[in-house]
Amino acid sequence: MIRDVYTHQPVMLEEVLEALDPAPDACILDATFGRGGHARALLARLGPEGRLLALDRDPEAIAAARALADEDARVLVAEAPFAELARVVAAQDLQRPINGVLMDLGVSSPQLDDPARGFSFQHDGPLDMRMGEDARQTAADWIARASVDDMTRVFQKLGEERYARRIARGIAAARTEAPITTTGRLAEVVSAAHPAWERDKHPATRVFLAIRLHINSELEQVASGLAAAVDVLAPGGRLAVISFHSLEDRIVKRFLRDEERGDPVLRSLPVPGDRTGARLRRIGGSRRPSAAEVNANPRARSATLRVAERLPEAA
Ligand SMILES: C[S@@+](CC[C@H](N)C(=O)[O-])C[C@H]1O[C@@H](n2cnc3c(N)ncnc32)[C@H](O)[C@@H]1O
Repeated sequence: MIRDVYTHQPVMLEEVLEALDPAPDACILDATFGRGGHARALLARLGPEGRLLALDRDPEAIAAARALADEDARVLVAEAPFAELARVVAAQDLQRPINGVLMDLGVSSPQLDDPARGFSFQHDGPLDMRMGEDARQTAADWIARASVDDMTRVFQKLGEERYARRIARGIAAARTEAPITTTGRLAEVVSAAHPAWERDKHPATRVFLAIRLHINSELEQVASGLAAAVDVLAPGGRLAVISFHSLEDRIVKRFLRDEERGDPVLRSLPVPGDRTGARLRRIGGSRRPSAAEVNANPRARSATLRVAERLPEAA
């Protein structure tokens, strides 16, 4: 399998560069390296003293990052999920503050397009969906064992699927006939159980998203990654986060709002504004890709970019 045939177009690239606006000697953490589209553009802004720490939980993304590091000594690489971000940054012994963090959430095009990764109902392949080996089980393992109640809860909560229970029952019935081990079979079973097909939307869209989020603990990862990103950012450093669906964006939005407000108890006391424990200042509101970008890259259509700046510690 030649994996390099799969490419990824970086989303909202100009907006990210403008948001992070790195100085030539800045140290930037790209926590979602993917195929390095944003990373390469950021490196082009950095001078010889600049550094880019590339993190990803996906071994194929890490292989691409290592290839870039072989060509460019300013690049450091770490294979880890967001939940380990603080430990990984400490282990790098950077000896300098981090001035910018980028989190371009979700899956990359190579993950979606390579049938062997098992993410897509559009290409038949093994039902895997793990972004990295840190995920505890494959989608096939989970589908084989999950109870109807568990599947219903995941499809409802993470996929916002109206017919969650009906689909869960359809899966439970189908797996007694033969194990569901491919994306194609799961897509068929879900489609057959789904009573209300929508125009321009595959009936398995929500269920596939829900399973992916569940297998990779993506929402929990985003929450812990955001907290760690703020911990490692230097005062004045910028955090830029691109999310691709409403559940993810809600977490980002609330996190930035809470970090800007500070501790609710301290806020209610007569303490100066800089002593409320607020750690971030939001920069602008949410931003969406331009119509021209969505035209050129339909996968950008659901992107939302949010940006914040790390405040100095109160003395
Ligand atoms: C949308 S892609 C990033 C694309 C990248 N900005 C580019 O221009 O090529 C998201 C990447 O983040 C990684 N990722 C998603 N969740 C992660 C997590 N919790 N921890 C580490 N990496 C994660 C995925 O493996 C994927 O490679």
